[in-house]
Amino acid sequence: MSLNRCHFGLLCVFITCQLYEYHFIKEQMSWDEARAYCREKYTDLAKVFDLTDMRRLQDSAQNQTEAWIGLYNITGGANRRWHWSLPGEEYTENKTCWRDGEPNDQASPENCVRTVDKWTDVPCTNTHQFICYNVNKTFHLNETSVTWTQAQSYCRQHHTDLASGLDQIYSEEFKKLQKSKGSTMNLWIGLFRDSWRWSDGSNFSFRYWDMDSFNDGLNNRTCATTLLERSGRWSSAGCDQRKPFFCYDDNMILIHEEKTWEEALYYCREKHHDLASITNRQEQAWLQEKAKNASTTFVWLGLRYTCTLGFWFWVTDDVIGYNNWDSKRKVDACGMSGAMDTAGEQKWVSKPDDNKFNFFCSKH
Ligand SMILES: *[C@@H]1O[C@H](CO)[C@@H](O)[C@H](O)[C@H]1NC(C)=O
Ligand SMILES: *[C@@H]1O[C@H](CO)[C@@H](O)[C@H](O)[C@H]1NC(C)=O
Ligand SMILES: *[C@@H]1O[C@H](CO)[C@@H](O)[C@H](O)[C@H]1NC(C)=O
Ligand SMILES: *[C@@H]1O[C@H](CO)[C@@H](O)[C@H](O)[C@H]1NC(C)=O
Ligand SMILES: *[C@@H]1O[C@H](CO)[C@@H](O)[C@H](O)[C@H]1NC(C)=O
Ligand SMILES: *[C@@H]1O[C@H](CO)[C@@H](O)[C@H](O)[C@H]1NC(C)=O
Ligand SMILES: *[C@@H]1O[C@H](CO)[C@@H](O)[C@H](O)[C@H]1NC(C)=O
Ligand SMILES: *[C@@H]1O[C@H](CO)[C@@H](O)[C@H](O)[C@H]1NC(C)=O
Repeated sequence: MSLNRCHFGLLCVFITCQLYEYHFIKEQMSWDEARAYCREKYTDLAKVFDLTDMRRLQDSAQNQTEAWIGLYNITGGANRRWHWSLPGEEYTENKTCWRDGEPNDQASPENCVRTVDKWTDVPCTNTHQFICYNVNKTFHLNETSVTWTQAQSYCRQHHTDLASGLDQIYSEEFKKLQKSKGSTMNLWIGLFRDSWRWSDGSNFSFRYWDMDSFNDGLNNRTCATTLLERSGRWSSAGCDQRKPFFCYDDNMILIHEEKTWEEALYYCREKHHDLASITNRQEQAWLQEKAKNASTTFVWLGLRYTCTLGFWFWVTDDVIGYNNWDSKRKVDACGMSGAMDTAGEQKWVSKPDDNKFNFFCSKH
């Protein structure tokens, strides 16, 4: 068994390490046995948020060709779910975006989405032009017609991803690009559906299939592996085959007790490591999912306002670069600390520090 401690890996960026660690287990087991093993010793079979995670996962394996990850297929028609291609962008149902009568699986199955001004589900093998999104919030129109997967692949390689989420697709810049080529052009957007699920129940949308070895349709191949010799790309295999596997160990825990901000801080520092900080979009997505399970309407973060100096800071000393404040519910005043809403958009809000909420601790 090999333990990959992030702190020693060169490719491992500190900020991604505070969420979870991957562990590669050399022993060969069926997918179900592997899952039971991971749940006993760590948190669960490995889940993958994005390409950075994927590289980290690969770095923790040695000399293997194929290993289980925590993705499995629920066969049977009604189990598909919509996902945005961009990691961390959550899909919420909104009827007004779809054309009348869509999505309808007309040429069944129709698992990818194109837009003119409203959305239509079509087979992913159709070919259309597409718009990529960049992290600097600019867009790029590509006028070559390709399949959905090719479009996604191009965007991920040269930009960030296919344009995803209502904020992007209904932005002025997106509309401007769309209109520049006439109003009837069909474009791929980063919306797809499938029936694959992560073992721990999370909705991470990242998929990394190796199209040459992915046999969608062979219904006995319903567990996912990573092909370590094919740059880690994923394939499907029969779940009772025996393979080595990856587990993940969670570093962020939701404490189901109600405490004031200061009590929460002492609790975390005594029993674990510290109150949690959020320094990027992935950490927000990760904690956001956990926060839904809280018993209070807000969850404390390690975020504090100093009224002597007049600014917000993380008690972990992390720099506030990324932020997810709800500007309407942010009050800069003495005695205020930061919490995350457990419903809706789950933005950060300021709360008087004597309120009692659940909270997140980091383990190390
Ligand atoms: C991996 O394989 C290479 C060559 O096949 C060998 O030299 C190396 O010792 C192996 N590493 C491990 C950790 O087994
Ligand atoms: C649904 O989408 C429309 C854009 O088509 C947007 O204006 C509206 O705010 C969305 N509604 C919700 C609840 O997200
Ligand atoms: C935004 O990022 C893209 C891709 O990295 C780059 O091509 C483009 O020049 C950038 N635009 C601005 C305004 O920074
Ligand atoms: C558009 O995408 C295709 C492949 O998907 C690529 O070969 C081509 O270079 C791209 N064109 C532009 C102008 O970015
Ligand atoms: C995943 O998505 C489904 C439906 O879209 C939702 O019911 C479920 O609560 C989500 N799970 C998590 C952990 O957010
Ligand atoms: C996954 O399940 C869907 C039905 O929900 C099925 O159409 C598809 O072929 C399955 N994929 C694999 C690889 O078994
Ligand atoms: C899965 O199905 C294929 C074709 O139906 C068959 O050849 C193969 O032996 C099956 N594999 C397992 C593990 O059942
Ligand atoms: C939610 O919390 C309960 C304990 O209160 C726990 O048993 C359950 O596993 C949690 N679910 C998730 C998705 O974390």
